Amino acid sequence: MIYAVVNTKGGVGKTTTAVHLATMLARTERTLLIDGDPQASAASWAAWRRDAQREPSPTTTCLAGKAILSEGKTLSEGFAHTVVDAGGRDSVGLRSALLLARQAIVPVGASNLDAAAMTDLLEVIDMAKDYNSDLQVRIFLTRIDSRTKDAAEMLAFLHEQKLPVLSSRACERVAYRRAIGEGAIVQELGKDPSSSQEMEAFLAEVTA
Ligand SMILES: Nc1ncnc2c1ncn2[C@@H]1O[C@H](COP(=O)(O)OP(=O)(O)OP(=O)(O)O)[C@@H](O)[C@H]1O
Ligand SMILES: [Mg+2]
Repeated sequence: MIYAVVNTKGGVGKTTTAVHLATMLARTERTLLIDGDPQASAASWAAWRRDAQREPSPTTTCLAGKAILSEGKTLSEGFAHTVVDAGGRDSVGLRSALLLARQAIVPVGASNLDAAAMTDLLEVIDMAKDYNSDLQVRIFLTRIDSRTKDAAEMLAFLHEQKLPVLSSRACERVAYRRAIGEGAIVQELGKDPSSSQEMEAFLAEVTA
């Protein structure tokens, strides 16, 4: 399966989601993580992971622009799963990732700004579907503050837009930030069972 983790908005948790998904998939099958963001955050995480000698790891490579589709297609043939961390703008790289993938996962925060920023992305996704009719798109609510009604309001907005939303979600938790900084995933740090449960539920849902 080829997954693209996409949103034109920055800071929504694309890299966090992509490295968790790729690492969880790598526990059982050969998995490729394509860092398609010029900022190379997933590649930095992979370097920290190598330094910390954590196993298992997805094979990580950086690709840009059209190469995400052309080289990504060839490279992904050698792996059971591929996860693309697409850059945070409407770019050639983002469009290429949406043409390569079978599943687009769209991390979205729960705020009016996140909702407003979705219009752009939905246009790009619609266009990708014209060329990639198998593309399945699902929203993943991230960085949720469970003390507020923001998530419920965002869900209402997404339902209005008739967008499919994963029932698993990631709350705002320090564990995610710590894990990324240590080249790890939250399960490996083992300090926050709630975040580990969120990621296992997310994996179960996207691989079902
Ligand atoms: N569920 C979460 N709880 C707490 N912090 C989070 C969570 N998800 C992501 N973060 C933090 O928020 C910041 C942005 O996350 P991340 O880098 O994954 O987003 P991104 O969409 O890839 O951003 P960019 O657009 O810059 O590539 C990081 O500091 C990350 O550690
Ligand atoms: Mg990122």
